[in-house]
Amino acid sequence: MNIDSFETVIVETDLLILGGGMAACGAAYEASYWAKKHNQRVTLVDKASMERSGAVAMGLSAINLYMGLKNGKNSVEDYVNYVKNDLMGIARDDLVANIARHVDSSVHLFEKWGLPIWKDDQGNYVNEGRWQIMIHGESYKNIVSEAAKNALKELGDNGSYYERIFITEPLVYEDRCVGAVGFSVRDNKFYVFKAKTVLDSMGGAVHIFRPKSVGEGLGRSWYPPFNSGAGAYFTLKSGAEMTCQEVRFVPVRFKDSYGPVGAWFLLFKSKATNAKGEDYMQTRAGELEKWAPYGTTEPTPTNLRNYLMLLDLEEGNGPIYMRTDEAIRELVAQIPDAKDAKRKLKELESEAWEDFLDMTISQALNWASHNIMPEEAPSEISACEPYFISSHSGASGAWISGPEDLAPEGHFWGYDNMTTVKGLFAAGDASGASSHKFSSGSFTEGRIAAKAAIAFCVDHPEPMDISEEEISGLKERVLKPMKLFEEHHAYSIDEDVNPHFIKPKMFMFRLQKIMDEYAGGASVGFKTSEALLTKGLEYLQFMKEDAEKLAAGDLNELMRCWENVHRLWQAEAHMRTVLFREETRWPGYYFRTDHPSMKKDWKAFANCKWEPETGEWTMIKRDIID
Ligand code: ADX
Repeated sequence: MNIDSFETVIVETDLLILGGGMAACGAAYEASYWAKKHNQRVTLVDKASMERSGAVAMGLSAINLYMGLKNGKNSVEDYVNYVKNDLMGIARDDLVANIARHVDSSVHLFEKWGLPIWKDDQGNYVNEGRWQIMIHGESYKNIVSEAAKNALKELGDNGSYYERIFITEPLVYEDRCVGAVGFSVRDNKFYVFKAKTVLDSMGGAVHIFRPKSVGEGLGRSWYPPFNSGAGAYFTLKSGAEMTCQEVRFVPVRFKDSYGPVGAWFLLFKSKATNAKGEDYMQTRAGELEKWAPYGTTEPTPTNLRNYLMLLDLEEGNGPIYMRTDEAIRELVAQIPDAKDAKRKLKELESEAWEDFLDMTISQALNWASHNIMPEEAPSEISACEPYFISSHSGASGAWISGPEDLAPEGHFWGYDNMTTVKGLFAAGDASGASSHKFSSGSFTEGRIAAKAAIAFCVDHPEPMDISEEEISGLKERVLKPMKLFEEHHAYSIDEDVNPHFIKPKMFMFRLQKIMDEYAGGASVGFKTSEALLTKGLEYLQFMKEDAEKLAAGDLNELMRCWENVHRLWQAEAHMRTVLFREETRWPGYYFRTDHPSMKKDWKAFANCKWEPETGEWTMIKRDIID
């Protein structure tokens, strides 16, 4: 392909929303309201199609954050305590509280837009657990994205969205983020988005660690495989301070197809046991004392639940089973009338299948193809490979300003959710230290960030300019993998074996091997140490050199090349921060064999920053302020 044929398209806007997932949709919806009032332009750019993009693409069977504040059962403070305990003490109270106090109204909007939420006989939402409500959510993302698109359309010429544009680089001018560049994955077009302010909501990252699904299963993961670290790369490359980069998330899922476990544990009150039928949460309860006060507080933090299971597996007690059969039997046994009990059994069977069909269809196919009937036999569960997200029980993302009324000293710098780079905002899986936001909280955080970002536009009306020279330099850099391929592909008959370049898939395998073996991946039982990390970081420097030789035969591969550059940066931030935090705080996510316990002086945030001027990394320890 001749790269000279690439057209340069320049789009000028005021607020540029990057991403199309739940946070971006919340941002588009809220921004439209404020943009109309203040005559501002809003542009959203998604790498895929908003209808089915981001973490909620497949749908969901539950909304995991609904406070129900009107009922008075839960308080914002309860939620902050829950989240902080689950993350072993590491979370920003101000950020978690800001989302929690606003989230219910977002859920009510989803319902208004057509999302079916389970109701009991009195018309109340059906809770799965204390914070979680059940939904018929197969079309959750379609419903929410339609509302976001409608909101942008209401702005007329001032509102627009672009789909299938892959964002590669930020535009930073005099320490202020003023846009982004990318390319179309369908047409030969290079895009330059010039803006007054940018909201990064490009999600977390998969496929940095070697996945358990390989060969014919490659691409199957718990979090969407399309989320490849653009969120973290964008803020890192802009020079923003990052937080919790050491916190990777390792969910426990139904084995191989990654079906959700929440409904089984919380709604159906199921147990997980080893092959001998022993419940590791009971037999290994003594281990939890070592991780006090977090290990001894209910509910047991997610990583510690993982850890007890991993200890059982290390002793050879696998497979681990979700006892679906026992759970269903016990629920049915509570119904005295035989006819009612039969009806209840049918109801539970259908709920069990819907749980997967709403959000992880392949798990239902897995059950069907292995003749598994959940009411008759247990199913295997297993720990996944690590992911980078700031929702659920992950925390990695940009260090952002809290809200003025809640943030402690030093945690507010003018605009909610602004990163340490002027004009650059982050939300959803791109903003850190505010775990457990889930789908509803991410949407809500997008709203909070967008409102503040429009305020920033109003306060900073001066136009920002990017020189022609910079634009042509960026275009050349972004398209370089295609040029390399064009020049050298004829040298060998197998495109994957060529001394002049490396294809993105091979690059990804190389990165995953390093991360798995040196940074504590699944195949080494999530264990690492200073010696391993130092060696791994050495190998990453070679990867950086190799990244200059990435080659793309078409637009899709060009996207794959840049996805892997983004992954590489997320990987480096992770390794550096795991090395910096000299303790083990989240066994079950990773274990530092050279520092095997939790340390008092590490009840702190481990932050990092890449300095654009020097290319050096700075590590920063920051206090947790309750
Ligand atoms: S989901 O991403 O598939 O929806 P998951 O199934 O892990 O999530 O859990 C759903 C919700 O239930 C989350 O809020 C999670 O923290 C919570 N949860 C899952 N298992 C347990 C458990 N054993 N104890 C307490 N909370 C749990």
